[in-house]
Amino acid sequence: MTDLRFPAAWRRGVYEAIAGRRDIRAFRPDPIAPEVLARILSAAHHAGSVGFSQPWSFIVVEDRATREAVHAHVQAERLRAAEAFDDARRAAYLGFKLEGILDAPLNICVTCDPDRAGPAVIGRHTMPETSAYSTCGAIQNLWLAARAEGIGVGWVSILEPQALRAILGIPARVAPIAYLCLGHVDSFPDRPTLETAGWLPRLPLGELVFGGAWGQPAAPALAAAIAHEVAPRPAPAAPPTGRGLLLVYTGQGKGKTTAALGLVFRAMGRGLPVAVVQFIKGKWKTGERMFAETLPELTFLVMGQGFTWDSDDLSRDRNAAIAAWERSKQLIAAGDHSLVVLDELTYAINYGFLDGAEVIAALATRPPHVHVVITGRQAPEALCAAADLVTEMTSPKHPFQQGHKAALGIDY
Ligand SMILES: Cc1cc2nc3c(=O)[nH]c(=O)nc-3n(C[C@H](O)[C@H](O)[C@H](O)COP(=O)(O)O)c2cc1C
Repeated sequence: MTDLRFPAAWRRGVYEAIAGRRDIRAFRPDPIAPEVLARILSAAHHAGSVGFSQPWSFIVVEDRATREAVHAHVQAERLRAAEAFDDARRAAYLGFKLEGILDAPLNICVTCDPDRAGPAVIGRHTMPETSAYSTCGAIQNLWLAARAEGIGVGWVSILEPQALRAILGIPARVAPIAYLCLGHVDSFPDRPTLETAGWLPRLPLGELVFGGAWGQPAAPALAAAIAHEVAPRPAPAAPPTGRGLLLVYTGQGKGKTTAALGLVFRAMGRGLPVAVVQFIKGKWKTGERMFAETLPELTFLVMGQGFTWDSDDLSRDRNAAIAAWERSKQLIAAGDHSLVVLDELTYAINYGFLDGAEVIAALATRPPHVHVVITGRQAPEALCAAADLVTEMTSPKHPFQQGHKAALGIDY
């Protein structure tokens, strides 16, 4: 039977977007790139909708005067709403920042046209509210896609629909469903601000899941699974500790890159941020490169141009090696990655594209927590002397010697 699940890293990404989505009220002023906004709006537009009626429209508001008009209305409504709370809660309510209309570089009003797609829409006849429900699905898609793009979204509902219609010229039959603020943020809080502030707790899921009929307990197996379920969270990066090691995998035998990739696997399993720079491989799509493309948390840079002994243009190879080394130096010096693999770096030194002494000197000044792995044949003696570990792969036997070609999934 075909496994229809997404690959594990994609599945984790979906759950991380869900768990890490937050309502945001403080934004940086820098604009959102149009192509990013287009992706976010496209995600919204791919929501389910009753009878495929797609009742939503999106009014993108950047104009300052328009936003000021909406903001003024929200301020007035906020004071009016405060009267609904008792004295203690009113003070807390008024203390919350509940919108970022003017801080955010843009606002989006999401509307719902209950007549979209004509009078006869499958499923809408009995439940006309389903148009609005569909629009909320689109808003949730928008919110999650924005989180994946690192863009914050804040939903402002302290608004009279009639006032919003007047400001934005929305026809009377069309309902403004959400007024959203969007922009870059410095960080996403782990938990809802209203939870952190002690306003309301997150309810236990087990209390909200019934089995068979309202109020009936869920099946024991499901109840037990829910009790063990923890909200998916990004793997916490382990704090940088200890001394970073310099590891060299060299020798004539197969397994140098393979061993380095094994370390990548291990380090990522521990939540450590990892970067790989490939100095030579580049012409072919390798299995590791294809897998790396599914791991957004892995920095994987293919900077080589293929094997130099194939090469017809040595200056092109030299430039590629220099560019890869410059990038590697930046990555290592930044200290954001606990493990940096410089795959096949030795060839770039042995071909004279890079100065071995300069490489060793630069590695010696790396941040103390960064582990560096270097692979490639004929590691220079001075590099081995500087390393904490040198493993030499020998080749007592190799399938090439029996005439076997490179095997998919084994060699590439
Ligand atoms: C329909 C709707 C309306 C909301 N209106 C407001 C609002 O007017 N002001 C505000 O600060 N937050 C508003 N929120 C955000 C909620 O307070 C927030 O989603 C909730 O506290 C959970 O936090 P989280 O979104 O960060 O997980 C709204 C959310 C929804 C879904």
